[in-house]
Amino acid sequence: MAIVRVGFLELWVRDLERSLEFYQGLLGFRLEHREGKSAYLRGYEELEWSLKLTEAPFPAVAALGFKVDEEGLDQARTWAQQEGLPHRLEADWGRPEVLRVQDPFGYPLAFYFRAEKLPRVLQNYHEYRGPGILRIDHLNLFSPEVDRATRFYQEVFGFRLTEYTEDEEGRLWASWLHRKGNVHDVAFTNGEGPRLHHFAYWLPDPLAILKAADILAGAMRTDEIERGPGRHGISNAMFLYLRDPDGHRIELYTSDYLTVDPDHPPVRWSLDDPRRQTLWGHRTPKSWFLEGSLLLDLEGKPVPTRASALQGLPEHVT
Ligand SMILES: [Fe+2]
Repeated sequence: MAIVRVGFLELWVRDLERSLEFYQGLLGFRLEHREGKSAYLRGYEELEWSLKLTEAPFPAVAALGFKVDEEGLDQARTWAQQEGLPHRLEADWGRPEVLRVQDPFGYPLAFYFRAEKLPRVLQNYHEYRGPGILRIDHLNLFSPEVDRATRFYQEVFGFRLTEYTEDEEGRLWASWLHRKGNVHDVAFTNGEGPRLHHFAYWLPDPLAILKAADILAGAMRTDEIERGPGRHGISNAMFLYLRDPDGHRIELYTSDYLTVDPDHPPVRWSLDDPRRQTLWGHRTPKSWFLEGSLLLDLEGKPVPTRASALQGLPEHVT
């Protein structure tokens, strides 16, 4: 199936105004459209919206969106029918055909090709607000079966493995998979799942990451800074993890590397290597390993989760 890249995320939030104050007001996302209880946002490089916030009774993730090529939508529909997976074709703002499919692991996927293009504002620098959010980069998913999910996403969706974490017994604890040519569009992380661990947006450079931390501090919102700024060992990227008003985790991310070669070799990390999470060895808070966002099925009900058989946290975690 011809997935091009990660395309969007739909979050349920309890108070849309409060969430817009965070995403638009503090982080500088562009608000492009409001309709009913939903708001549609994008980064400055994007020609299509990439974040949909919908006011709802409890926080959750309604859709994990992927852009496919022109044939991809029919391929996805045929696949969903053949596998007997719950699926439905819908229209959304500026997107006449969005195929919602709940995959065999419970992840609520949404495939789309046609999308109304928004005006190009990349070089409207005078309009930039916040740290200058550019584009969606990846989704990180909690899974109690990282090995199975990783194989499935490679074989069925054509993702390529760039990095992975393994223990001494050769068991897979986490994987990073891409379609678009950098380190990942999707990552799987061992833990109670299926849930969303975090979603990430690309920033122009490491200084923008620091600026985001300064903006949160200036606004007396340091409680929303969960981890960082720092540099990951895995992906080599600079990062900052924030928790939004509903606890959804957003990563601001920049400076990973190119992976377009079809024979690009994956990087193996040992579970015992503290540099994999933060290259400089900083400890990672426990919340980062345990907390995530519930997913919704196609009927809008929470997807049941289960614990992973791989238990325990690496020693360097506080
Ligand atoms: Fe990430």
